[in-house]
Amino acid sequence: MRRLLAMVGLVVSMAACAEESLPLKAHSDSSGWTAKWIGKDEAEVKSKDRRLAARYVRKDFLLTKKVRGAVVMFAGLGSSELYFNAHKVGDAVLSPALSDYTKRVYYVTYDVTSLLKRGTNAIGAVLGNGRFFAPRGTVSYGFPKLRLQLHIEFTDGTSTEIVSDETWKLTTDGPIRTNNEYDGEEYDARMELDGWDKPGFNEAKWEPVQLVGAPGGIMSAQTIAPIRVTGAIKPITMKEVSPGVFIYDMGQNIVGWCRLSVKGPAGTAVSMRFAETLKPDGTLFLANLRGAKVTDRYTLKGKGVEVYEPRFTYHGFRYVELTGFPGKATLATLEGRVVNDDLESAGSFMCSNPMLNRIYSNIVWGVRGNYRSIPTDCPQRDERQGWLGDRSECSRGEAYIFQTGMLYAKWVQDMIDAQRDNGSASDVCPAYWRVYNDDVTWGASLVIIPGALLDMFGDRTTIERAYPSMVKWIDYMSGFITNNVMTADKYGDWCVPPENPKLIHSKDPARKTAGPILATTYFYHCLELMTRYAKMFGKPDDVLRFTALAKKLKDGLNTKYLNRDTGQYDNGSQTSCVLPLAFGMVPNDMRQRVFDHLVDKITNETHGHIGTGVVGGQWLNRVLSDNGRPDISYTIATNTTYPSWGYMVEKGATTVWELWNGDTADPSMNSGNHVMLVGDLVIWLYERLAGIKPDPDHPSFQHIIMRPTPVGGLTFVKASHRSPYGLIVSEWRCDHGKFRWHIVIPPGSTATAYLPNDDKPIELRAGTHDLFTK
Ligand code: BGC
Repeated sequence: MRRLLAMVGLVVSMAACAEESLPLKAHSDSSGWTAKWIGKDEAEVKSKDRRLAARYVRKDFLLTKKVRGAVVMFAGLGSSELYFNAHKVGDAVLSPALSDYTKRVYYVTYDVTSLLKRGTNAIGAVLGNGRFFAPRGTVSYGFPKLRLQLHIEFTDGTSTEIVSDETWKLTTDGPIRTNNEYDGEEYDARMELDGWDKPGFNEAKWEPVQLVGAPGGIMSAQTIAPIRVTGAIKPITMKEVSPGVFIYDMGQNIVGWCRLSVKGPAGTAVSMRFAETLKPDGTLFLANLRGAKVTDRYTLKGKGVEVYEPRFTYHGFRYVELTGFPGKATLATLEGRVVNDDLESAGSFMCSNPMLNRIYSNIVWGVRGNYRSIPTDCPQRDERQGWLGDRSECSRGEAYIFQTGMLYAKWVQDMIDAQRDNGSASDVCPAYWRVYNDDVTWGASLVIIPGALLDMFGDRTTIERAYPSMVKWIDYMSGFITNNVMTADKYGDWCVPPENPKLIHSKDPARKTAGPILATTYFYHCLELMTRYAKMFGKPDDVLRFTALAKKLKDGLNTKYLNRDTGQYDNGSQTSCVLPLAFGMVPNDMRQRVFDHLVDKITNETHGHIGTGVVGGQWLNRVLSDNGRPDISYTIATNTTYPSWGYMVEKGATTVWELWNGDTADPSMNSGNHVMLVGDLVIWLYERLAGIKPDPDHPSFQHIIMRPTPVGGLTFVKASHRSPYGLIVSEWRCDHGKFRWHIVIPPGSTATAYLPNDDKPIELRAGTHDLFTK
């Protein structure tokens, strides 16, 4: 018992302690679990949409003594809610965290002392599909099931355990008639099971639960923040586009669902459908959601004002269609509920350019909405997967916005769990889609993200834990090297701005970057990171072999692709210049030539616009700034013509699109809320514009490198970042050529600051500082 109570404390305190490493190992075991898995391994109605009625499970139990403390461990798969004596335990939704259930099952732990009483008590749980009874097209793990263990200690020093077993009862005849994450939830309030979660409920019509097979994975305490309703948003307009069809505009593309308030006769069915954009006639544009039916349906019980929110689905939307409403709907009928991993804010950014501020806001909404205990690619269509390549370097930028340390450490564990024995990495983690394409640029996240966790949060444990998997991946992928060139590339520089507004992928060979250039440069970068990790953990043999292989790849790249006459790699695409420059692969005597070539391309071919896709875009802005042309990064960042983030804003985007031409492209792959095209923009805003950057030799901002860039006529930048050491502030202002800079360095940190155009280091200790140019 003491051990269990201590664990609850640990779960809570870990969330507040970003610099601590994720203790997955310590809690990844099945010892202490005696409870059985229970559920019902059959469906009442067979549906090709894979919609199930929610399962309600319950048990009464008697306590004859006074409770001193009680803790519950609960794994309700796929998504679940837990009740004690008619109180919902905790405020999480869509719980627990996602995983490959054959490898790992996350359970949540709660102190439930205050919910128990002497006498008869009731435990109840509601089980939804989640990703366990998986949406169509993804790997399924079986029917929803649960395992629960309640440990109770009494004031007299004795203790008891209540566990899930064959004595529990189950029904599928509750109000949640169908649910799944893509299609929505149907709720019939006439079927509510009044008092089902209270002691003494008459469960005569319920059936005994089945003892069911374990999912197979090890039991692991969930240490990441839960998903919660993190905000409420009121619609800004409502229009009746045809009799009885009301279209609401939330004013913002959000992720979550709506709360419906309705009064009317029993049996009336009200439906809500969700979309990111509208058609010209003002009705929902649903084509880009592919097969997702995104419909929540509520059937009234006919008693006063009824308030409904779904539990086991979520949608990505700005617009809502309401139909079947009894009477006249009003703006107050719906309220948007914003749902995502409840991560603490980690920073703020604002500057004198309103467009840049708007773009930043779009990014924050996009990043936030795509946290569903994994970073998803998109929240609205029938996909919602954790694609590795979207977040490789991009994820480091997110760490300036939210406290992402625990979430990304957990995602690295998902990558480890997904890896095949031969070393092949899954491009989607957890591997709900079995996509083992052996693509370097996607798989590289397994190596890159742990390094970012070290730099941003001081997390060494994730590197240590992932190291064997990284080595296995490096060794396996090395088999794809031919003549010192890495050939394994599947996706290319995904989603470069296409030449034709209808296209998803460019057909123009000049815009594309040769796969082996992407793969060779990225693999080289991975080998450099591996060398860093191997040095950290004292593995000299690994250092030698990674360094030697990296050198070979550098030679291979330059021998095969560098044209010393023209100063370009292969066809000279923007990305083919960016990556060798970013990773230090260009021979010294050719650096300027290659950079000049990049500048020429951007200036004369794309006319100050971005020409990279997801891969090159994660490095572009820093390469430009670090080679003396921050003005070009600024132009790219503040453009409002195609292709640019500003173009999306001008076209009404309130998040970031999957495609640069998201307003015109084919809807079969065109989400309005993807994070991948953010590239290194956020890193650039914080590290180059504001000038707040961790020193890799003293990670987690123990030492900060502060080098702001006044550029593009900006008159001020105000940024802050809450690092593991505390709050860092960099606020500068340019008045009539005079640069004034206010800095806050947290206790325990030091900084080296540089005034603009001045290479003289200024050493700063913790405290506030005001610097200015004469
Ligand atoms: C996803 C992307 C992903 C890509 C890779 C798309 O369907 O939405 O985010 O990286 O596939 O093929």
